[in-house]
Amino acid sequence: MRYFFSTLILFVLFFSVGCISNVEDISDTPDIDPNDISYSADIQPIFTSNCGSCHINSSTSGVNLTSYSTTTNSVGSVAGGPIVVPGEPGNSPLVEKIKPDPSYGSRMPTTGQYLTPTEIAQIEAWITGGAEDN
Ligand code: HEC
Repeated sequence: MRYFFSTLILFVLFFSVGCISNVEDISDTPDIDPNDISYSADIQPIFTSNCGSCHINSSTSGVNLTSYSTTTNSVGSVAGGPIVVPGEPGNSPLVEKIKPDPSYGSRMPTTGQYLTPTEIAQIEAWITGGAEDN
């Protein structure tokens, strides 16, 4: 009987650990193939809906996200360089600023909801694929 209960407890522990790691899997950034991303269909609408009052048809801190050319030509006033580095999402201030705890200033957008993990992954995939005008 004692053996039965300790085995039962082990099972319960085992499955709760399984559940905890499942929760982490869900919050992980989804994998998105850069070939499935279009700037005009997927990326620009994210900026237009979320970055509006500050970076659409206007420039804040050097960042203007109105169109493909203004986005890829934006030079962050604080970053001191282009916000999009084609092929290098990890070195692109645009990506750093939409994730938690950026190294300077606030996480974007400063008003409204943060971008979803899928939206962030789409932007990263677009940059990984060379930040093309497609
Ligand atoms: C309500 C206004 C507001 C909104 C909305 C907003 N931003 Fe910003 N953004 C700012 C301000 C103010 C700064 C400068 C301060 C800072 O870095 O926190 C900034 C800075 C930035 C920078 C860094 C520029 C630099 O100086 O290096 C990036 C990149 C950026 N924003 C991207 C975005 C993106 C992408 C969105 C939408 C998802 C967004 N922002 C939404 C106000 C806004």
